[in-house]
Amino acid sequence: TSRPLNIAVAGTGYVGLVSGVCMAHRGHNVTCVDIDERKITIMQDGISPIYEQDLEELMYLNRDRLTYTTDYISAYKNADAIFIGVGTPEQPDGSADLTYIATVARQIAETIEKNCLVVVKSTVPVGTNDKVEQFIQDFLVNDVKVEVASNPEFLAQGTAVRDTLEAARIIIGTNSIEAEDTLMAIYEPFGLPIVSVSRRSAEMIKYAANDFLALKISYMNDLANLCELVGADIEDVARGMGYDSRIGSKFLNAGIGYGGSCFPKDTKALEYLATLHGYELRTVKAAINVNKDQKILLYKKACQRLITFNGLKVAVLGLTFKPGTDDLREAPSLDNIPLLLAQGADIYAYDPVGIENFRKKYPEAGLDPERKNGKGSIRYVMSAEEALDGANVCFIFTEWGEIKAVMPETYKRLMRTPLVYDGRNIYAVNEMRDNGVEYYSVGRK
Ligand code: UDX
Repeated sequence: TSRPLNIAVAGTGYVGLVSGVCMAHRGHNVTCVDIDERKITIMQDGISPIYEQDLEELMYLNRDRLTYTTDYISAYKNADAIFIGVGTPEQPDGSADLTYIATVARQIAETIEKNCLVVVKSTVPVGTNDKVEQFIQDFLVNDVKVEVASNPEFLAQGTAVRDTLEAARIIIGTNSIEAEDTLMAIYEPFGLPIVSVSRRSAEMIKYAANDFLALKISYMNDLANLCELVGADIEDVARGMGYDSRIGSKFLNAGIGYGGSCFPKDTKALEYLATLHGYELRTVKAAINVNKDQKILLYKKACQRLITFNGLKVAVLGLTFKPGTDDLREAPSLDNIPLLLAQGADIYAYDPVGIENFRKKYPEAGLDPERKNGKGSIRYVMSAEEALDGANVCFIFTEWGEIKAVMPETYKRLMRTPLVYDGRNIYAVNEMRDNGVEYYSVGRK
């Protein structure tokens, strides 16, 4: 039986906040630290700064064990363990930006007053934990012992709480028995399988798993394009493959390519790491290239079908990189909308939760009657029907339930010309055809 530990979590993004709240839910006392005062204030009011199922409920249930603060000194000073869950954004060359990690590491070094385990949860290049440990040693103020452990996170957005509480496995990477014991004590109450390995292997597992999933998707997308050429159906192919437990039936959905905060970044980061070591990681490179093309595949198809987008009303259904999140990072919509606007399309975009974020990147612009520079316009609407009304062409970028609920006949009824490019294979091809819709999807006839 383990005792509750005092845990500080640096960073209250998806990884930090969800891990912190889940550790509190499993009995630990958790202090969530962020530099963003506004975020801290709203969390103190019981509101989650991210859109994530079950999170606010758990914040409420465990409020006695949860503290939110910008005061890292008091949070770190007496912590048994400090989790680092800050961002490691992609840099232009594909490498991970470790500035935020370094900042936290230095703050830890300058504040801790007792022996403590620093746990890196952020996805970092293999070898980073060694550097973080050295960096902390270099700046350490008090005579205490600090160790660094790796504990990568596998949560997916939209299901982050469930993914954490019911994780398939917990990976802990440590270089000492003491560090391993501390992490075991933290995770024992979760009752989940624990894989205990070296720090470097743990760091590698994170990339290995994410990049494998990205590869799986790119493989299906690559095959989907071939299926179209040879008259096979990728959905049937996927179904037939998935029964083989060595392959597995999940993550075989062809579509408009993967987005989000992990796969695009983690594939590029591993490829970059390989390059640094003089190695060409050919498989992952292929996954990246396939994905790049896949994101604008339907746009290109539409360009072959239409003379121009100039002056056309284009319905865009779905802006986020997947359903269940308001996150737009690497969303296919961000690759396609600029192309459509540049061609002079008048876009009517609908997304159940993503509009607010999208508007920040693309503020609403009304119709430019003179269409100067051939530039189009974008408006945001409250329903799929509103977007489709009078549209000349429709693009489906996200498979939200609200969008899947649109009946095939609705396209025929509402659109000026029922021409639909579906990046998520939402509809049965026959059904759309029977309803008089000219329908293009991915990897199907
Ligand atoms: C992913 C991993 O699932 C998670 O384990 C990791 O920790 C972080 O990255 P996330 O990015 O939140 O999580 O979403 P996920 O549901 O995995 O989807 C990623 C992207 O792949 C989405 O754009 C999705 O549309 C796409 N995808 C997924 C496919 O195109 N086909 C599939 O079969 C599955």
